[in-house]
Formats: sequence, structure tokens, C-alpha cells
Amino acid sequence: MARFVQGGQPVTEQSNELTTDIDTASPRGIVKILHACDKEIFKGWKDSKGINNDVILDKVVKIALKIKEVLKDPSSGAVVITGCGTSGRLAFLTARTFNRYLTSRGKEPCFQYIISGEDKALFTSQELAEDDPIFGAQALEKTIQGKSKVVVIGVTCGLSAPFVAGQLDYCLSHRDVCTPVLLGFNPSHMARNIDIQNWNKTFLDVVKQMEKAEKSGAGFILNPVIGPEPITGSSRMKSGSTTRILLETLSIAALEDYSRATISLLFKMYEDVCTSVYKQTESMASVIQLAGESLRSGGHIYYLGCDGFGLMGMIDASECVPTYGASVDDIRGFVEGGFSVLCNNDGDISNEGPYYRISLKDFEKDILPLIGHNDLIVLIGKEMINKVDLASLASSQCKMVCMCFQPNSTLCVQEPLENFAVVVDLKHDFSTLDTVASDLAKVTMIRLLQEIAVKWVLNGVSTGAHILKGKVLNNMMIDVKVSNNKLFHRALGIIQKYSGASDDECHLCLLKSIYNSDSPSEAQRSASIEDHIKAAFGVEKVVPKAILLALSKSTVDQVRQMMEKQPIVRKLLMRQTQV
Ligand code: F6P
Repeated sequence: MARFVQGGQPVTEQSNELTTDIDTASPRGIVKILHACDKEIFKGWKDSKGINNDVILDKVVKIALKIKEVLKDPSSGAVVITGCGTSGRLAFLTARTFNRYLTSRGKEPCFQYIISGEDKALFTSQELAEDDPIFGAQALEKTIQGKSKVVVIGVTCGLSAPFVAGQLDYCLSHRDVCTPVLLGFNPSHMARNIDIQNWNKTFLDVVKQMEKAEKSGAGFILNPVIGPEPITGSSRMKSGSTTRILLETLSIAALEDYSRATISLLFKMYEDVCTSVYKQTESMASVIQLAGESLRSGGHIYYLGCDGFGLMGMIDASECVPTYGASVDDIRGFVEGGFSVLCNNDGDISNEGPYYRISLKDFEKDILPLIGHNDLIVLIGKEMINKVDLASLASSQCKMVCMCFQPNSTLCVQEPLENFAVVVDLKHDFSTLDTVASDLAKVTMIRLLQEIAVKWVLNGVSTGAHILKGKVLNNMMIDVKVSNNKLFHRALGIIQKYSGASDDECHLCLLKSIYNSDSPSEAQRSASIEDHIKAAFGVEKVVPKAILLALSKSTVDQVRQMMEKQPIVRKLLMRQTQV
């Protein structure tokens, strides 16, 4: 079997050596491996040093100063955080948190977010919009209309999203108003160098312009290298966590005028929270076991939480669709109050369809009557016990899990917690914050640290559940959706890795799979990548089918029959490849 050539591959698309056998690990083993991988955020990977190093600290201090200048006069300025998929969702969360922060200090909110695909993309995958640099620039222009001083933080973990490239490029040609910041996790020379449709630059071209701007302080590239993702390319995981840490640190440092030493201490606090989370190995492993059983038996997983906790659940759930080719119904999240607490750009969009009905009330109306013994309910925060109809849930025989935050204590299990199969008690001592933070900053930071703890747990649960369902081979998500240009190329890489076939052969097998044809027509073969992506919409198991086509030389129909007999893709491929 051919091995992937890794030499020139961006770090964020490489396979992490620590996780090669994650697909055959026990739930406990999965938690241990994920922890080892997350440690690289702080300790570094290979020659890189992780986030708490001099170069990153220097840049954070400088960028925070630029943000502080904007905050001096919020009516004429804006801090815009923008990105695609998870990066856009984290932009939304950060803007929401720090606008509330400003409001509670009697100041005008001036954080804005932009997400490709607009607010529908906050909870559902809308990847095609990521490929459009012109739309990105237009969305930015509209957002900052009338402003005279703007910091634009463009988040793209892989230094790859055309949507963000267009925005940075816009900033570079409007330097009197905009200071662009590129946030991502590849070395600059590994930025994507593939033609962008209807545009005359690649992402790498924009990075080169950014490098020049950085020399004169007119822009910044904040790109710590934190090593490959535990599941290859799944930037919702380590990159998402690091995005959160950096966006939150930049914002609070600007608001509270933190020194470099305090910023370093904040990074250390995030690291300590990460350690505390993974100390809960046994309870996390038990939840993964339950979650895996649910998905394997056709059940569902529901995350229920208040405020940022609920949002973390919704975000984790939404990412499983493009990552694992999961159905939108497999894992869903709900937040108390729904859109009334969101502060999102487009307001209530629940009329867009059932998957935009996101409140606990919607859960009780739409989902609760259908809950059965195969389903798993995860309450995020002990306060949820009094907010859900526990009696109905218990009588449905579903499994229930509760995540709690008990500062400095051993959890004392009280009456209602007896209903729960597992309690994840996220004990953590936040007293270090007493020395550095004002009361308001302390309250905000504790909540943010708890939210990232929730992220780590839920990412572990949904990743572990899909591994147990057989969606991962080695550390590759083999059933990835082919829904934008980046994912089209990633799909080709996966087909090549597992089939060992030539570039042309892999490309042909991908087309055969997309068009469900043993001999795609001339028009299909010569169509653009964008057309292939559109054609792939709604087609099941495109990548696994293409791998099997390349490996077995069978017809599309024969492969389809194989997959009907054995739906667990990992087992099918192992049979063919002896991996
Ligand atoms: O294309 C889908 C996706 O991979 C999401 O899973 C991810 O969150 C998003 O793209 C953003 O990627 P990046 O931050 O590298 O631009």
C-alpha cells in the first residue's frame, strides 16, 4: 500500500504520528491519545515551541495594542473576526463574549464576526461559500462601512480559505483603515498555493503580501505551529482550541491592558485546564463508550446546555457532518433560550428549517417525544438538571450523562445525579486568576476556561463515538464530505493513501464515485472542481466508494453492493488493504 508523501504537505493536513492507531484504541486509549495530541498546543511539536513562546507572545502584545486603539473609540472602529466553518463559529463566540463584556462596563460593543455562508453556517455546514474570495471581501466591506479604524482577524487554520484570502487582500489595499491579522497554524511558506477560481492570486500570494506588511507593522501573521490534528485535517480539534485561546487572550489582553507576563500566565491557565480535563480519563472514556454505542445502534446524541456551554454543544455537533459524513440528526445541540440569547447577525432564523430550531423548548417539542433507549443525552452543566424534563427523559430509558464544574471539590452525588450513567466532574482550581484579573475579567475568564473544557470533552466524545462507529481508518476520516475545493483535494489524498493508485487513477475513481458511473462522460471529466463539488452534494460515501473502486477494480455497482453488505467503511477497507 502506498504511503502518503508528507514532505511538502502543510502541517495541518499531515497525519499525526501519535494517533496512527487511534482507530483500534479502547475508549480509555482514545482519551489518552487525544491528551497527548492536545499537549502539543502548549509544549510544541517537533522543532516548534507551542503557543507560550517569545515570538507568539511578542505578536500577541502588538496585536492587542492595535485592538486597544480601536477600543478607545468604539463608535468609529471595529474589531472584525472572520472565518469559515469552525473558524467562523469561534469568531462568532468571541465577538459575542467580548461585546457583552464591553456592554457590562457601559461601553459600546464593537466586536463583529463574519462567517462564510452567513448565520446558517453557525450550526450547519455550508462549505462551498468558503471558496469565494470576492464574496469574502464584499462581506467585510459591508461590515466595516463608515468605520475609520478596524482590526480584521482572518482565521484560517490551514492558511487556505479563499474567503479569508479575499478579506486580507481587501485590508492590504485599504491600509488607512484596516490592520489585517492572519491567524492560522501552518508555517507561512506552507500556505495554500492552488489557483482560486475567478481570482488572480493564491493564498500564498496573499501571505507574501502580509509578510511585507508585517515588516512595517501594517499587518500581522500569528501562526504558531502546533502539530497535525489527531484526526487528519480535522481543524475543529487542536486548531479550533488554539484559535479560541488566541482570540480570547488577544481580546482580554486589549481590554484589560495585560502585560506580556500576564498573557503568558493566561496561556499557562489554559494548559492547566487541559490537564484537568484529561485527568477525567475514566469518566470521559465511559461517555465515549456510551456515545459509540448510541451511534452504532442507530441512536442519537443530544447536547443540552445554557449560554456558551449550549453553543459549544451545537458547534461540536455541527462539525460532525462534514468531518465524518454524519447525518445532521446523529448529533445535535440545543441551547436554553435559543436565538433570544445568541446575539447573532441575522437574529432568529428558526424558520429556515428543523435544524435551526435550537432552543430547549424546541428540543422538548420536536425531539423529546421521539427519544428512545438508544439515545444519549449529555447535559452540559449541573444547572441543566432543573431545566429539562428529567422525568420524561428517565422514562424514555435513554442514557444520560451530566458534565459538572465543581471548583476545588470532590463531587458529592446528589439525588438527581443518580439518574445519570456517568458524571464528568470537571474539577479545576481557578484561584491563579485572583492575582491577575479584575472581578469582571475573572468571571469572564472562568467561564471561557470552562467553555474550552467543554470543547475538549465534547470533541473527545464525538470523535471517539465516530471512531467506535468505524468511521476512522488509522487516523483518517475516510468518509469526509467532498463539499469544497480544499476537501476535494483532501479526498484525492485519502484515495491515494489507501489505494496507492496514480494521481490520474485516483481522480478518475473520485469522478466515478461522484457521478455513479463506470465511465464518466467527457463533459463530466472536463467539468470544473466547483461542478464536481455540486454534483457530489447528497451522494453517499463518495470517498470510501472511490477508494474501493481504485483498490478492487470493481464496477460502481459491485462496490455499491459491497457497501450495502458491510456499511462500516473501515471494516470494508481493512478487508481490502490489510492496514
Ligand atoms: O471546509 C470545511 C472546513 O474544513 C471545516 O471543517 C473547517 O472548520 C473550515 O473548513 C475552516 O478551515 P480553515 O480554518 O482552515 O479555513
